[in-house]
Amino acid sequence: MPRIPPEVIEEIKNVANIVEIISEYVSLRKVGKNYVGLCPFHQEDTPSFTVSEEKQIFHCFGCGVGGNVFTFLMQYKQCSFFEAVEEVASRYGIDLPKVGFSPEEEAVYKRRKQILMINQWAAKFYHHYLLQDPEAQKARAYLAKRGIGKDTITAYLLGFSPPRWDALTRFLQQEKADSSLAVETGLIVEKTEGRFYDRFRERIIFPIFDFKGQVIAFGGRVLDDSLPKYINSPETPVYRKGFNLYGAHVAREWCGREGKVLVVEGYFDLLSLHAAGIKYAVATLGTALTPNQARLLKNLASRVVLVYDADAAGQKAAIRALPLLLKEDLVVDILLLPSGDDPDSFVQREGGEAFLQLLHHAQPLLDWYLKKGEEETKADLNQRYQFLQEAISIISLFKNPLMQSHYQDKICQLFSIEPSLLATLTPPQAHSLHRQDTPFISIESMPAFEKNIIKFILSYPEYLSWFIKEDILQEVKHPLLHSLLEKIVKFYEEHNTVDVNGLIMDIEEEPLKKLITRWSIEEGEYDKPEEIAQGFLRLLRERQFKRLLKAIKEAEIQGDWQRLSVLLRQKNELACDLKRN
Ligand code: UTP
Ligand code: MN
Repeated sequence: MPRIPPEVIEEIKNVANIVEIISEYVSLRKVGKNYVGLCPFHQEDTPSFTVSEEKQIFHCFGCGVGGNVFTFLMQYKQCSFFEAVEEVASRYGIDLPKVGFSPEEEAVYKRRKQILMINQWAAKFYHHYLLQDPEAQKARAYLAKRGIGKDTITAYLLGFSPPRWDALTRFLQQEKADSSLAVETGLIVEKTEGRFYDRFRERIIFPIFDFKGQVIAFGGRVLDDSLPKYINSPETPVYRKGFNLYGAHVAREWCGREGKVLVVEGYFDLLSLHAAGIKYAVATLGTALTPNQARLLKNLASRVVLVYDADAAGQKAAIRALPLLLKEDLVVDILLLPSGDDPDSFVQREGGEAFLQLLHHAQPLLDWYLKKGEEETKADLNQRYQFLQEAISIISLFKNPLMQSHYQDKICQLFSIEPSLLATLTPPQAHSLHRQDTPFISIESMPAFEKNIIKFILSYPEYLSWFIKEDILQEVKHPLLHSLLEKIVKFYEEHNTVDVNGLIMDIEEEPLKKLITRWSIEEGEYDKPEEIAQGFLRLLRERQFKRLLKAIKEAEIQGDWQRLSVLLRQKNELACDLKRN
């Protein structure tokens, strides 16, 4: 990852306005001195997503996420820190100097850019060949037969690879592309030393795009029944399987409007829907949905409709996706197609209108799953018990307690069991399934003194030096608060102030980010901060005093006279201090 010099990040932070940038993605309204809107990271009806212009940070009081302008973009666009900085910089016309890269980082970054460039050339090469070359007539006929018209071909930059073993190899040589880079794209394969050939020959080409519309990989389908039906790019420096969704770069603008995203399995499922005017779909490309794809879906819409093939494999895939999607707080429906259909075959036969009609009959995936489980386990008590355990652990993933209890009731009804029995069914591992990545933080259960002094410091960092002198780190013991305070103190020692927006960049732990943005935005209005600071100081000293007394007792018991004399002297000094103030 390229490094950007801190002074440049500083400059960007100084000119960028978080309200301007977030406004492009979330509609914000001014309330008091902050701005509020509907949180893009979880589903809500009343705005709890808050942006502070003064502090240049955001925090959602609903789901707890928070951060600065860069972390917002990273989460919203699923991009790297570098890309977020790049975006903000370009918006404000700031040049990112390429200094600060280590030579290796520079090389990796450059190579990725070059691979993306070769991918783009190749996609265009195949696309033009499909559209223009007489040899591609059969590919054009094939697409026409499958209902894919010019608009869809253009939107997805579909192509055709010539029926020769080195067509692309030669084209890239002409373009003076480096041969080892060409091999790294996965498009060209090195057979024996210095002998290269094309991976994709005589296949319909589907460029695979990332969210930003850059070509990161390719798929290719034969025109007949020969095998393998599809081949795909291997993993490369710009492509990791399961880290993208086919079609997302097109779907993203439609999903927002529609409020939902359809998830299908195959290339043609997605393309047929697109050709029929239904453009809010993405495809997983035949693999099981990954946790990362679940997260990406969240950026597209808060409601997901799975439209998988109507076969046993499709149903199994839908069930496997359920916990991943619930963990992301997504509303999940399933659309059941007539037996034997996939979305493509249905749309080809019945048309887009009929598909939209059917879409009205999408049902909550969990309801369908429970009904199916109830029916299928009627005969076998053991299976039934196992199914119930699985169902209960899935239900425990709901963030909303009302949903949990709704579905608990539902299970009791459906399976005719006593509500009191449910608890005994709860499998022990259900808790570890429970949102591992964002441990629940109970602010209420934190020691009030520790919580309050940190909140105060966030509002009045100028008093932190007083507290540091009184060993504040010793007195804040709650593990989360302690590590937060450590970061605050470190930041203070380096910058001589505490600027939350800057501090956030040093914090990787999600719970800490949530805490700090929340408290900074809540920001207490303190009438006489100096008096409050004095109060905290006194409390700190009293705590120290108590700690000393305890240590003295221990030293006495152990007969450690040397230590005792040191402790006694400290105690006397502290006692004087306490009396004076
Ligand atoms: P399917 O076997 O359901 O094919 O695989 P399909 O999408 O209906 O294909 P058509 O309609 O016959 O053209 C679903 C998806 O799984 C991936 C592809 O992305 C495909 O679209 N797949 C399938 C492969 O990657 N390789 C294969 O050999 C088969
Ligand atoms: Mn199909």
